[in-house]
Amino acid sequence: MAKYIQNLDCSKWMFDNIPEFRKGKMMKEFADVGCGLELDMGSPTEKDSYMHSFLSVEKEDFAEYIKTLESKFEKSFENEIEGNLFYRFVTPEGNFSTVYRPKYKLARLVLDRCKNTDIRQFGYSEYDEINDNTILSQYSLHYSHMIRWYSTDCGMNYIYRLRDNSIIIIDGGEIEQATDKVIKEYWEYLRRLTNTKESEKITISLWICTHAHNDHTDFFAKLIRVYGDKFNLERVAFSFTANMNMQHSPSVAIAKQRITALYPDVKYLKIRAGDEFDIANAKITILGVNEDIVAIGDDERTFCWMNDASSVFRIEADGVSAVFLADAGDSYERILLDYYSPDIFRCNFLQIAHHGINYLPYIYAAAKADKVLLPQARLNMITRFQDVIEDLYKNFGEKNIIYAYDVTSTIKLKGGDYSITALPHSGTVYDGSEL
Ligand SMILES: [Fe+2]
Repeated sequence: MAKYIQNLDCSKWMFDNIPEFRKGKMMKEFADVGCGLELDMGSPTEKDSYMHSFLSVEKEDFAEYIKTLESKFEKSFENEIEGNLFYRFVTPEGNFSTVYRPKYKLARLVLDRCKNTDIRQFGYSEYDEINDNTILSQYSLHYSHMIRWYSTDCGMNYIYRLRDNSIIIIDGGEIEQATDKVIKEYWEYLRRLTNTKESEKITISLWICTHAHNDHTDFFAKLIRVYGDKFNLERVAFSFTANMNMQHSPSVAIAKQRITALYPDVKYLKIRAGDEFDIANAKITILGVNEDIVAIGDDERTFCWMNDASSVFRIEADGVSAVFLADAGDSYERILLDYYSPDIFRCNFLQIAHHGINYLPYIYAAAKADKVLLPQARLNMITRFQDVIEDLYKNFGEKNIIYAYDVTSTIKLKGGDYSITALPHSGTVYDGSEL
């Protein structure tokens, strides 16, 4: 596979030993859509995933191709979300995924070559029930102005404590927020959530990371350094575009190195749109990843920027839904709303995109969320992002906006209902401590 070249202008089929797709119009982009836990700081790895895209593909032609794949390979996954079709196949070359988007008559075909878990072996739905509820937490971080090595206006950290007493962590925070004091308090908070003694290990059943920016990766990298021997990390899920497409923050490689060194048996899944899997009683549905923003035809929206390469997903647990928009921007919003109806974004809790900096009015209107989780400081919203906060007031009501700066919100979910308790914010500006 040495023939792979970064985002090659492509006019021929590039996947060896995979039946050629001969319908529609092949797009010239043969996109490097990144690797997994491998390190790709310097250049693309031999393990990078690549994607062919075809336009003007009829649904029947796509179905015919799926039949061909089914006759040759084992199908590990299929899903349909509002007419969008998603498949995964196990091939000798690696996981081969196909996505069909009827709105654009678009077929995306991706070959993964990274160390990637079969999606059937990734999640789990059988477990011992330790708790009769689920907890969703928006952990309080310190948000101020963006002054490198002093304070930041980004970062987000969400936690699920599941019925089996394991933990899902979504992203983390930036180094300025990951002070020694906060890391220690965070660890004590996880212990309280799981009612775990000093001598017992916590199980982190999943770290899911939305994109390769430091305000989403620093905190977890540091948590591993400080407390990594006190928890088991069972699973990691992300889909980062190639470092050469959009430069990853340095802590991405540090987090990967620490994960592979300390948890050699960790299961990694290169997530993509359409994926659905259970982590105990939480059901995770991936709606979009970096692959979905690669240009369609002459559309200019190619790899707009890292924030638009975020993974966007829904989590349903204990009858309560949450949508995580990560740092998505308005061009990504338009793509998502081209692919899905507004109803897909309806939820109880909506994470506001990009720390309240980006404005996604159509998704915010569609979500009809009871509460919004805003990973930002109230003061920043009122003084710097007035248009967004006014829209949030209009859509959700001021009292339904939960700022991550104000408090750590512990949201107990049970049987479709929820109750919220708060712990005061205790973060400070950066303490100069090591990552
Ligand atoms: Fe961010």
